[in-house]
Amino acid sequence: MNNLILFITSSLGSPVSYNVVSLGAKLDAKTDSTQAFLDAWTKACGSTEAATVYVPQGRFLLGKVEFKGQCKNNDITLRIDGTLVAPADYNVIGNADNWLVFEHVNGVSINGGTLDGQGAGLWTCIKTGERCPSGATTLEFTNSNNIMRNGLTSLNSQKFHIVINECNNVKAQGVKISASGDSPNTDGIHVQSSSSVTILNSRIGTGDDCVSIGPGTTNLWIENVACGPGHGISIGSLGKEQEEAGVQNVTAKTVTFSGTQNGVRIKSWGRPSSGFARNILFQHATMNNVQNPIVIDQNYCPDNKSCPGRASRVKINDVTYQDIHGTSATKVAVKFDCSLENPCSGISLEDVKLTYKNEPAEASCSHADGSSSGFIQPNNCLV
Ligand SMILES: *[C@@H]1O[C@H](CO)[C@@H](O)[C@H](O)[C@H]1NC(C)=O
Ligand SMILES: *[C@@H]1O[C@H](CO)[C@@H](O)[C@H](O)[C@H]1NC(C)=O
Repeated sequence: MNNLILFITSSLGSPVSYNVVSLGAKLDAKTDSTQAFLDAWTKACGSTEAATVYVPQGRFLLGKVEFKGQCKNNDITLRIDGTLVAPADYNVIGNADNWLVFEHVNGVSINGGTLDGQGAGLWTCIKTGERCPSGATTLEFTNSNNIMRNGLTSLNSQKFHIVINECNNVKAQGVKISASGDSPNTDGIHVQSSSSVTILNSRIGTGDDCVSIGPGTTNLWIENVACGPGHGISIGSLGKEQEEAGVQNVTAKTVTFSGTQNGVRIKSWGRPSSGFARNILFQHATMNNVQNPIVIDQNYCPDNKSCPGRASRVKINDVTYQDIHGTSATKVAVKFDCSLENPCSGISLEDVKLTYKNEPAEASCSHADGSSSGFIQPNNCLV
């Protein structure tokens, strides 16, 4: 696993800088600039000293771009003042896994910039049930280390906006992600098989999870994020595979959820798996009209397919909810629907106050074990 850091560096600039326009990129949003971006990357990556790829203001049309390492230095900055635009015809990148991908890089910072995935056409196709490509993730970091991203805006991705996969040490800050609330699978940031990822001071509104946390995520820190519309922060789905890495040490702190389907959720498939989720802290969350503010669902089984017996073996323990307050859009604001075969344990509620239509909301627990302290509303149903 490598380190990927998405940085916020100042734009002091490094001694070596490659301007994509000097290398032939056109800022007219019509001329394909893929080759110029690749040429700039190749030069920066081949530089033996720190290097910058500079993208001036303008709209640059790009097909799929693979920013590949290993590089000869570990200090590359992409300074983006302009907008990178995906092809209007969604078929061009719709069957690629991703549109822009960084792979095997170490020490890359992206400062500023807007990524426009132009996904609306594909969403319409998917919603009308036609045969459509599965869609490309807008920006993916894979097998990378020490990545810093600051002030990046991602709009209207075809599928996920940002994926962090098999990375170590990634910092994303001041990220703005936006897609319509009914766009399918447009998760904001998806993290999996990665360690030491930090997401700070960001605003995410999409049609799917704000942040989704997949198997193999450890030491994830989320702080000061505004979330909505969308499906909230979700650990899972876990337990899809029989042999699966767990999720450990996740903190989500000072998050505001507005009109989302869920607030903080952990979900696992109702079937056997070696997966687990533990040492999870949800702290200082504000819920504004959220359908399911607090939820653990261990019986996830879409379409009732391939969930024999419907009992999850994913172990969920040591999950703390601290200072969670606001309004629920449904009566049951706290729902712990855990596995009969493998009950949730060590669930802790501290200072929770959730109302539904100005009345205390309700809680529902099955197979959930734990304790509570401080003010608790709805009434604690943990055993
Ligand atoms: C948990 O993760 C945080 C970063 O999110 C890290 O600072 C801390 O050391 C980790 N704790 C353990 C016990 O690994
Ligand atoms: C799935 O199966 C359960 C239990 O057999 C049933 O109650 C539920 O309605 C089914 N759901 C769907 C979507 O078929």
